[in-house]
Amino acid sequence: MHVRSIRSLSASDADAVIVGMFPGRRGGAGAATVLKGMGPWVRKALETAKFDGDAGQVAVLPSTNSDLPAQVVFVGLGADVDLESLRQAAGRAMRALPEKARTVATTLHRMELDGAAQAVLEGLALGDYRFDRYRSSFPVREELSVELLGGANQEVEAAAAGIIAEAVGLARDLVNESPSRKAPLEFAERIAAAAGEAGVAHEVWSGDRLVEEKMTGLLAVGGGSHRPPCLVRLEYRPRRPKATIYLVGKGIVFDSGGLSLKAANFMDTMKSDMAGAAAVAAAVIAIARLGLRVTVVGLAAMAENLPGGGAQRPGDVLAYRNGKTVEVLNTDAEGRLVMADALCLAAEAEPDLIVDLATLTGAAKVGLGPKIAGLFGNDEEAIARVKAAADAAGERTWPMPMPKDYFSLIESSVADMKNTITGRYGGAQGAALLLAEFAGEGPWVHVDIAGPAFVDKAEHYIPQGGTGFGVRTLVELATGMG
Ligand code: BES
Ligand code: ZN
Ligand code: ZN
Repeated sequence: MHVRSIRSLSASDADAVIVGMFPGRRGGAGAATVLKGMGPWVRKALETAKFDGDAGQVAVLPSTNSDLPAQVVFVGLGADVDLESLRQAAGRAMRALPEKARTVATTLHRMELDGAAQAVLEGLALGDYRFDRYRSSFPVREELSVELLGGANQEVEAAAAGIIAEAVGLARDLVNESPSRKAPLEFAERIAAAAGEAGVAHEVWSGDRLVEEKMTGLLAVGGGSHRPPCLVRLEYRPRRPKATIYLVGKGIVFDSGGLSLKAANFMDTMKSDMAGAAAVAAAVIAIARLGLRVTVVGLAAMAENLPGGGAQRPGDVLAYRNGKTVEVLNTDAEGRLVMADALCLAAEAEPDLIVDLATLTGAAKVGLGPKIAGLFGNDEEAIARVKAAADAAGERTWPMPMPKDYFSLIESSVADMKNTITGRYGGAQGAALLLAEFAGEGPWVHVDIAGPAFVDKAEHYIPQGGTGFGVRTLVELATGMG
């Protein structure tokens, strides 16, 4: 995304201008000039289009005035504007524009709100996202250019918005990628390339190294696929860091369920089961590019869950690096098995905070619906900190109970615990309680992103498909600790 500030529309070469409107069709900053330039017909046209200025509304009109950009996008801001409603308005406006508009001018950032320019630019860039690499008929799109009309220079906010939107775009690309083209080692290579460009150190464990390091869950889950598992380790270490955070992500590049095979209708979105790993990797890269003052280590537990000849069986017992054992009763509860390996490594480092992101349970999606992630953990303050970061970033999360006595749900008759729950209820809690056994004693927060990682329907700045959920929360979290 290219950003520049301009003083007036006479200096613009935009294809479109985006203006905010308040309820009652009251113009936001800069709207008067545009409305006047368009002529009196525009009020009538907006009225006919039932555009009032409420949040969620958008109307695209031709300007019919050669001094103005060819298209004018009116976007409703609603009565109470905050950073997230601005981000959403910007994203919605962007998605309403024709594909070929590559330069857009806007006045949306001219609000009495700290960070308004960054929020608007994030919304525009995130709403501009497309996954069209497999569409033979799509032309290559030029980079998006944004003209900020009036107001002070916004270089710092523009740079931050660009870095964050690119990271979210990377996570979305990886989630949307065909699972045939993101084997664990291919995923690792793509991450390594992006990390290298950002100056992030990277290491990949596979084969014998996984055996030597006792990465039991990865080896067991990955055994059923010809495409072997791996663990990706990213590290960003700034000068004089103020804290150390470990980020752990679930990276199942395809979850067929394994021998406990899923039904076809539950399998069709399972290329997204690596969304946690993608978000963690993208976040480490963004944090490094922003130069935040925290050491961040990202661990991505990558495997493919298929029912091949080397697959694990229901009944298998896994002995982990930290000495604990898990009985596998359902091979479709594979996420917790691979997360356990990476959490052992994170816990050994005794960082200030461990945060893990995983598309872990259907139960979390049932409980919170498709837009909200569940928060679990062993430390109320750490959970509150992640919640606050998510709120600031505009990502929706909700703290979930994780009562100790629910451990009985995962008691096994042969091992320390089992990877399923007794009965039908408490699936997200059972999974979180298993992870807790590997996360150590320090502050740890588990984010179950089964709902919001991948969505059926586009909305404001979130496209259909991979959403990149979690990237912005993690960047915000690191910003607050740096
Ligand atoms: N990857 C799934 C969880 C999931 C479901 C993510 C829907 C996104 C959308 C996970 O590996 C899984 O299959 N979990 C099972 C566990 C069960 C077999 C104990 C589940 O939640 O049904
Ligand atoms: Zn599964
Ligand atoms: Zn899974």
